[in-house]
Amino acid sequence: MAYFLFFIIFLVFLFLLRKIRYAKLRLPPGSLGLPFIGETLQMISAYKSDNPEPFIDKRVNRYGSIFTSHVFGEPTVFSADPETNRFILMNEKLFESSYPGSISNLLGKHSLLLLKGSLHKKMHSLTMSFSNSTIIKDHLLFHIDRLIRLNMDSWSDRVLLMEEAKKITFELTVKQLMSFDPDEWTENLRKEYMLVINGFFTLPFPLFSATYRKAIKARTKVAEALTLVVRQRRKESDISQEKKNDILGALLASGEQLLDEQIVDFMLALLIAGYETTSTIMTLAIKFLTETPLALAQLKEEHEQIRARSEPEAPLEWTDYKSMEFTQCIVNETLRVANIIGAVFRRATTDIDIKGYTIPKGWKVIASFRAVHLNAEHFKEARTFNPWRWQNNNNSEAVPSPVNVFTPFGGGPRLCPGYELARVVLSVFLHRMVTRFSWVPAEEDKVVFFPTTRTLKRYPIILKRREETRSSIGIGNTADTGRQKEN
Ligand code: HEM
Repeated sequence: MAYFLFFIIFLVFLFLLRKIRYAKLRLPPGSLGLPFIGETLQMISAYKSDNPEPFIDKRVNRYGSIFTSHVFGEPTVFSADPETNRFILMNEKLFESSYPGSISNLLGKHSLLLLKGSLHKKMHSLTMSFSNSTIIKDHLLFHIDRLIRLNMDSWSDRVLLMEEAKKITFELTVKQLMSFDPDEWTENLRKEYMLVINGFFTLPFPLFSATYRKAIKARTKVAEALTLVVRQRRKESDISQEKKNDILGALLASGEQLLDEQIVDFMLALLIAGYETTSTIMTLAIKFLTETPLALAQLKEEHEQIRARSEPEAPLEWTDYKSMEFTQCIVNETLRVANIIGAVFRRATTDIDIKGYTIPKGWKVIASFRAVHLNAEHFKEARTFNPWRWQNNNNSEAVPSPVNVFTPFGGGPRLCPGYELARVVLSVFLHRMVTRFSWVPAEEDKVVFFPTTRTLKRYPIILKRREETRSSIGIGNTADTGRQKEN
């Protein structure tokens, strides 16, 4: 009992101390909630539901679009203001990126997400150069289309769409990174990756968390497998002058004299960054379209016209992609409503004055894209899936001005290097979905947002295949990958 009393007094003391310290600053208004816990539980329970909006809405209504809270053990400033979000994104020196300990440990210190300064700049632009429209047009589009069709060929009449989408995006990223076609090695690597990702949202203490222990073990296995690939490639490039057109090739030729460990961390993180995000957007686009039959019908029409221009299973051309106008409205609207990355996390490197307030040095800052994307001031009837709002020829009132208010891929020096790639993958996936299948949901499923955005049941659907659409493509030659020899 005495210990309990002492504990309560200690908490009250801490609470008062904190009040005195912050009273001197013009902090953004808000509530720090209870000591230690702050408002974490309210936030988690909101994001675990299918309607997390009230958590931010209530505070925005009470305090304005920049407010203070206390989540995950730290005082945190939330921004639901597009201008402030832009300022945060553009000013890396004032707001450095900040990931929870579990994520940083599992990604590895050389991953792009954790690099800083000039090396970050260089590696960011290298990643961009392997995901931009030129490389997609000349090289990746063919493989994106081929791997999507190959996967769809093997689908039964009932699939968990989220699982299938994950398989596709993983195989695509492996192709982009190291030119491997899918096989048992890729699938085994993917299984280990899923364990690594599970560890992202646990406490980073192996002693307390079995999930974290498993994640660390899986990370070691993934790193070992990738190290073998890097070594093999170094050997090959010593022997032959032929350079592979992939990210690994570019890393080895970058002139940076990167160590194996640096390359492995970099590749490991890139595989994670594109995997969950793109597969979730593919699944949610199908879910939203299923729930909006008029949009689905218009999308089908657009893609039937593309098919009518060539053989049913002919590979998609860049000009086909460029002609997918309504598809781009679907892509934008899915990104806006789904908010796969609903916010980015930063830390103030110094006291920062912004909009009449001071954000103290060391405080966490959350720039919420979700709050902007779902705000009726910026998007009319913001919570409705309405792809037509992106059509230029539509009622101009409904067309949002994308500057600042539409940032699904972030911005500034950490702008998602996969932004173009993700759009193309989703467009090709939609093309093959609507021209090959019709479908209905197999069960009711709902979207939740914590710890990541996903559907609870992985979106099971029942498919009806059009007879003429089973293609006869095969996987490419894997003999040059050296994997069989190494494993
Ligand atoms: C729909 C799909 C995707 C969405 C919504 C998305 C969103 C984002 C966002 C918002 C950021 C900025 C994070 C920040 O500022 O802290 C980001 C960063 C990043 N994304 Fe994506 N992304 C997607 C797909 C991809 C793909 C396909 C790749 C693979 C090339 C990728 C690779 C990365 C990497 C490496 C970063 C870190 C950049 C850095 O810190 O410099 N993403 N992504």
